[in-house]
Amino acid sequence: MSGKLVVQTDLPTGRISRHIYGHFAEHLGRCVYEGIWVGEDSPIPNTKGIRNDVLEALKRLNIPVLRWPGGCFADEYHWKDGIGPRESRKRMVNTHWGGVVENNHFGTHEFLMLCEMLGCEPYISGNVGSGTVQEMQEWVEYMTFGGESPMADLRRRNGREEPWRVKYFGVGNENWGCGGNMRPEYYADVYRQYQTYVRNYGDNKIYKIACGASDFNYRWTEVLMREAGRFMDGLSLHYYTLPGTWSEKGAATGFTEREWFVTLKKALRMDELLANHAAIMDRYDPEKRVGLIVDEWGTWYDVEPGTNPGFLYQQNTQRDALAAAVTLDIFHRHCDRVHMANIAQTVNVLQAMVLTEGARMLVTPTYHVFEMFKVHQDAEALTLHLQSPDYELGGEAIPQFSASASKDASGRIHISLSNLHHEAAGDVAIDLRGWSGGAPKITGRILTASEPDAHNTFEKPDAVRPEAFEGARWSGAGLTVALPPMSVAVLTLEG
Ligand code: AHR
Repeated sequence: MSGKLVVQTDLPTGRISRHIYGHFAEHLGRCVYEGIWVGEDSPIPNTKGIRNDVLEALKRLNIPVLRWPGGCFADEYHWKDGIGPRESRKRMVNTHWGGVVENNHFGTHEFLMLCEMLGCEPYISGNVGSGTVQEMQEWVEYMTFGGESPMADLRRRNGREEPWRVKYFGVGNENWGCGGNMRPEYYADVYRQYQTYVRNYGDNKIYKIACGASDFNYRWTEVLMREAGRFMDGLSLHYYTLPGTWSEKGAATGFTEREWFVTLKKALRMDELLANHAAIMDRYDPEKRVGLIVDEWGTWYDVEPGTNPGFLYQQNTQRDALAAAVTLDIFHRHCDRVHMANIAQTVNVLQAMVLTEGARMLVTPTYHVFEMFKVHQDAEALTLHLQSPDYELGGEAIPQFSASASKDASGRIHISLSNLHHEAAGDVAIDLRGWSGGAPKITGRILTASEPDAHNTFEKPDAVRPEAFEGARWSGAGLTVALPPMSVAVLTLEG
C-alpha cells in the first residue's frame, strides 16, 4: 500500500523544543542505583561514581533535560537525607518501589554533577505530598543562592562553592494519586502556596511546573488552569501506553500481533490527549505562555519474569521503537504547546534507553529512535499532510504510516517516517513543496527488524540497530521511499 506525504519546506509551524527529548530517572528499581550510580569504589569503571558506559551512551543522545528524583518517590523524598558525607547519610526504605533500602548515596550533589557531565539541564521534582513549604524553599535556596544564607553556607560546607543553575522545578508529582490523593481544587491552592516560596535567586529564573493530569482527566487541567494558571510556567501530563490493563498489562516480548497493534493504537492516542488538554489551556492562556510538560510517557508492560515487581524492569523491542517514533512525531505536531517531555525512564525501568546487568550494558531500540531523531531538536517543525492507507487488524484500523519533518539552522530538512504494519511493506511518495534546491543530497538511516519483538540482549547487544537507508529515490518531482514493515527511518535532505 502507498502513502502520500506533502512537506511544506517553506512553511514552518514552530520550533521543536529540544526539551521534548527529555528524560526521567527515578529512585526506582535499578534506574539510579546500578543503572547510573555505582559509587566510586565499584569495580565497574566509573567517573566519580557514575558508570562510564552508561554515561557515554547517554551523551550520544544529546539529552537536553533530566527529571529527578521521581515520580512517586519525589513526594516521599527529603532532600536533606541526601547531602553531606555519604557514609553518614540516612538509610531508609523506598516504600513505594520494592521496599528496598535507599542509602541516599545519590543525592542533590550527585544528580547535579550528572547533569553537568551530560551537559543537560536539571529538572527537580519537589515534595508536596509529604514535604513542607520550608523544605521546598530551602532546597531551592541550597541549590541556587550565591550569597550568604544558612542553606548556601551548608552547600559550601558540603563542597560546592558556586550555586548551580536550576531552571525546571516541579511542585509535586501525581498529587491526584501517590502525591497525596488530592482533589484538583485542593491541589490548586496547595500549588499556589508552595510555588510562592520557590524563589528566583540572583539571575536563576525558575520555570515552575504544576502537577497536571493523568491521561484523560480533563477536569484536572480545567481546574488547575482556572485556579492557578497564572502562577505556573508549565503544567504536566502523564500518559502511559499499556497493551492490556493495569492488572494485566501484557508481556514486553513474546506478544501477539494484536498486542503489537493495540500498543501502537494506544500510543497514537497521545495526539488526541494533547489536542484536548491544549484546547482547555488555550481558553485560559491563548498566548500559549504555559507549556504542556509531558513529564512521564512511554510503554508499560508486566515486569520480566523473576524480577522484583516493584522494580518495573522490562525488555524493549522493535514495538517500543515504533511507539517512541509515533509519539515523537505527535510531539512535533504539538510543539506550539508541548515545551517538554520526559520518557519514563532512562535506565532499567519501563521504556528504557539503556539496560544493565552487572558490568554489562546494552542500548535498546528506543535508544536508537532517540538517537536518530535528535536531528529534530530545536529545528523548525514543517507543515505536512500525510495521506496514509489504513493498517487494519480485527476490524480496527490505524494509519499505516507516521511522519514528521523539520528544518534545522543550516537549512537541512529532516523527515521521520515510520511503517507501523507488522508484516506489510509500503511506499510513501513525498512531495517537497517549496523545495528549489534541485536533486537533494539524501542520507538516511533505518531501524527495522525481522520479528516484532526483536530486541537486544547482553549476548547480542546489536541485534537491533540502525543501518544506512538506501530506500529513498529522487524522481524530479519528489521522493519515493520504500519502507519495510515495522520500520523507522530518518532522512536528511540537503540542497
Ligand atoms: O514512572 C513510574 C511511576 O509512574 C512514577 O513514579 C509515577 O509518577 C507514575 O505513576
